[in-house]
Amino acid sequence: MESEGIDLDVKRFDEIVRARRAVRRFKEGVGLPEGAMEAMLDAARWAPSGYNLQPTHFVVVEDAGTKEALMKACMDQTQIVQAPATVVFVGDRDVARAHLKKVLAADLANGAVDERYCAFMRKQVKLSFGTGPCGFGWFWKAFGGPVGKLFRQVPSIPAVERRYWLAKQMMLSAMVFMLAATDRGLATCPMEGFDEGKVRKALGIPRRYVVGLVTPVGYAEGEIKGRSRLGLDELTHWGRWGGRKNQ
Ligand SMILES: Cc1cc2nc3c(=O)[nH]c(=O)nc-3n(C[C@H](O)[C@H](O)[C@H](O)COP(=O)(O)O)c2cc1C
Repeated sequence: MESEGIDLDVKRFDEIVRARRAVRRFKEGVGLPEGAMEAMLDAARWAPSGYNLQPTHFVVVEDAGTKEALMKACMDQTQIVQAPATVVFVGDRDVARAHLKKVLAADLANGAVDERYCAFMRKQVKLSFGTGPCGFGWFWKAFGGPVGKLFRQVPSIPAVERRYWLAKQMMLSAMVFMLAATDRGLATCPMEGFDEGKVRKALGIPRRYVVGLVTPVGYAEGEIKGRSRLGLDELTHWGRWGGRKNQ
């Protein structure tokens, strides 16, 4: 089938996906090309997000002292001090209040949505994210949700599963960032081996924000040994769980 006007170079994309590896040794003292960090972050900000709320913030760490403190908060993983920069992906628990108005106004102005959609969105986001006075709404959603499931469809509720919701959003941004790095010949290493409280303290991140992922970025040192992957057949279920292709 013809693509609808989008000229995608699929082969090149596949190569970039396979070339990305989690790299644990970086060339020390070699900086990033001018403007590369901004370009990779700019790509990451175009990742999709639920309700287009864009909760992911990027904390860029380049200063040697701060990298040292960050490394200590990340189980002493030395990639952080070797690489010229490390990006910490952080998600805003209060994003509905912080971004909804702004996002709807911008999407309305560029014609991506209409007034009816905006009205629906305001209601829907309040329903999904609102915690009500004194957290009463949270209580109602946390305990009423499972009961409601007996009678009707209830999707996962960000008000109750805030960290889970934020994790999905942050990982999509982080993946785009890492692929943008690979595209530039740069290496990354996604890391969840960190103490969240200590990362927050090292970088002055307020408690309102959840720390999702840390990745150093720079040039790889030495040969990169790629890890294996399970076979596509082991992971793919065609049509329904356990289904085989053309069964
Ligand atoms: C969410 C997540 C957390 C990870 N945390 C760490 C980490 O803390 N330290 C590390 O060295 N690698 C970490 N990794 C890298 C994985 O070990 C690596 O992606 C995996 O072994 C596959 O290798 P590849 O990325 O080179 O294909 C993490 C990867 C992901 C996706």
